[in-house]
Amino acid sequence: MHIEQLQLKNYRNYDALEVSFENKVNVILGQNAQGKTNVMESIYVLAMAKSHRTSNDKDLIRWDEEYAKIEGRVQKQHGSLPMQLIISKKGKKAKCNHIEQQKLSQYVGNMNVVMFAPEDLHLVKGSPQVRRRFIDMEIGQVSPVYLHAINQYQKILQQRNHYLKLLQTKKQTDHTMLDILTEQFIEMAAKIVLKRFDFIHLLEKWAMPIHEGISRGLETLKIVYKPSVEVSEEQDLSKMISVYNEKYLKTKNREIDRGVTMFGPHRDDLLFQVNGRDVQTFGSQGQQRTTALSVKLAEIELIHSEIGEYPILLLDDVLSELDDYRQSHLLNTIQGKVQTFVTTTSVDGIDHQTLKEAAAFQVEAGMLKKIQ
Ligand SMILES: Nc1ncnc2c1ncn2[C@@H]1O[C@H](COP(=O)(O)OP(=O)(O)O)[C@@H](O)[C@H]1O
Ligand SMILES: [Mg+2]
Repeated sequence: MHIEQLQLKNYRNYDALEVSFENKVNVILGQNAQGKTNVMESIYVLAMAKSHRTSNDKDLIRWDEEYAKIEGRVQKQHGSLPMQLIISKKGKKAKCNHIEQQKLSQYVGNMNVVMFAPEDLHLVKGSPQVRRRFIDMEIGQVSPVYLHAINQYQKILQQRNHYLKLLQTKKQTDHTMLDILTEQFIEMAAKIVLKRFDFIHLLEKWAMPIHEGISRGLETLKIVYKPSVEVSEEQDLSKMISVYNEKYLKTKNREIDRGVTMFGPHRDDLLFQVNGRDVQTFGSQGQQRTTALSVKLAEIELIHSEIGEYPILLLDDVLSELDDYRQSHLLNTIQGKVQTFVTTTSVDGIDHQTLKEAAAFQVEAGMLKKIQ
């Protein structure tokens, strides 16, 4: 799929923008702080209804304005799809094919994107939270059911934490409500973890040969899901539920002492291993980069295999961070099949043929113009 046209109104430093893109590589050139990341972010937000760099939607609205609007026309195998997202201080309104979507979980997934930005290196190095967010966003865009489950899980988790606080401070002494909430909590937890096991398997399947290619056959990548409870992927839903129940009985008193939920998918993690060793702890910076790149390229293939179309690729400030070999690997992989956006302050040092044939845009102070 590819985005043909993008319109922004009051988005970050863009007052009003209307631009057409090409179904190949689009290079966005500009000095720092002119709006390169902002335009990439707007495409990401149009697809995911969430930014990759802030959880505060209000940041996306141009200062002193009431709302921000992103509109795009996406060309898919089955025709053209208009997408629209309005972000106001009251919340978000999403339209797909001119029809307002009651649930954002239904909206997300109509347009697919993969973003690769410098902060994605944190996927390997950063906190478990970064990796959980990655899993949730990525499964979410191929599975609305999962996205809905995650939202439900967050709600139950909040209620459960709230009730644990009441028990902790002795404003409540009855445990019945905790048992009821826990039963719902555990059922959602098990469903989510099952889906995550499946996803990580698929991701690993795609990432392994890519990583091997980038490392010239020297490295084998493994991706392991690390649950906070002794559940395993051989277990079915009912077995998992019983493992969670045991955990609940064991930790209940401590949970009440602390007033917080101490197990579940919101505490799980991912582990990347190269040649059997944890990349986060033992990997060189090069290995961490290769891992992050392999995972991103694997996502492109995973989305393609799940939905039958390639997603749109957003490369914000990363091309110049990669050495020539990794750069070529990336550009050769996407060549001719993935609409790609690349931002950079200068084209020096990026001389791959794909970029010479790219459409080019210049951005300056929130104005974006085609230059070639
Ligand atoms: N909500 C906002 N309203 C207006 N301007 C914003 C808003 N958020 C960020 N900016 C401005 O956008 C610019 C940064 O744009 P960005 O796309 O990150 O730059 P770069 O071209 O370096 O990627 C900064 O000048 C910043 O002040
Ligand atoms: Mg930037």
